Amino acid sequence: MNRKVSVIGSGNVGATVARSIADKELADVVLVDILEGVPQGKALDMLEACPIEKSDARVLGTNDYADTANSDVVVVTAGLARKPGMSRDDLLNKNHAIIKDVTAKVVKHSPKAIIVPVTNPLDAMAQAILRESGFPRERVIGMAGVLDSARMRAFIAMELNVSVENTHAFVLGGHGDTMVPLARYSTVAGIPITELLSAEAIDRIVKRTASGGAEIVKLLGTGSAYYAPASAAVEMVEAILKDKKKILPCSVFLQGEYGIRDLFVGVPVKLGARGVEQIVEIKLTAEEDAALKKSAAAVKELTDVIKV
Ligand code: NAI
Ligand code: 2OP
Repeated sequence: MNRKVSVIGSGNVGATVARSIADKELADVVLVDILEGVPQGKALDMLEACPIEKSDARVLGTNDYADTANSDVVVVTAGLARKPGMSRDDLLNKNHAIIKDVTAKVVKHSPKAIIVPVTNPLDAMAQAILRESGFPRERVIGMAGVLDSARMRAFIAMELNVSVENTHAFVLGGHGDTMVPLARYSTVAGIPITELLSAEAIDRIVKRTASGGAEIVKLLGTGSAYYAPASAAVEMVEAILKDKKKILPCSVFLQGEYGIRDLFVGVPVKLGARGVEQIVEIKLTAEEDAALKKSAAAVKELTDVIKV
């Protein structure tokens, strides 16, 4: 195996991403954390699963960024979850400090990597990584839209009792309450859901999608979702490693596209070996455009706090 993916943060999302990449034999994997023993233990456990999974991927756990040298892709999941008593801005500032430290170390050892940020608040952290890395915008691609769209697809499939494989959904905007699930561009076997579902059902699905993360946090009691987030990040990694030219909704640094400038916001992009190979601009109605701009304004509030 000559491709290499490093995953920073060996918590719920990071470990699940690492396991999936190894199981699919997409690349060798390096799992990094500040906790001593945890990435090493989890990586060894994954390595021992490889014979059963028929994968020759090598999995290494470490606290040393030298082991990440020359990674093709780096997935960043390091960060804190919000704790009782901690304000939104406290979390933002604490995760920003972590992200700056992680990015400097990643870039030092893998100056040509493509970085896939996952840490929340996603769009602001992606922007912090872009600024700290000095990478071109094509090589910093935030994960959120693939997850939000997968949630919407799951809800559409349940509502219509059809295969998830028949579903397609587009969710734009920032990864938060203001995200913009687009019903008109969401289809089942190519048929827009607006032709198949009542306005009431679509409204219910859209609202459930926008609060999909919170629904799982409430059920779990502690921590947040990680199976679907990890699957989403791995779909992006696979599209990059295999140069698939796959169009997926990702958070990217817009420079005038959709009338938004110098801000990470989720839009459809073509992912391939060079990272973002195209930003796909679709026509929005006035209402959809206003919702996207509102979502971008919510991201801007956060980037202004951390000055990135
Ligand atoms: P977790 O708490 O299970 O894992 C986070 C890991 O980061 C811990 O192992 C911790 O030791 C590590 N870490 C902290 N500081 C570090 C540093 N300086 N260097 C290296 N590692 C460090 O959290 P989980 O569930 O894995 O989530 C990770 C992040 O991903 C959170 O910010 C979460 O909100 C976000 N997330 C984003 C999603 C998205 O759609 N973009 C979806 C799901 C989670
Ligand atoms: C989610 O959407 C917490 O951002 C995370 O599940």
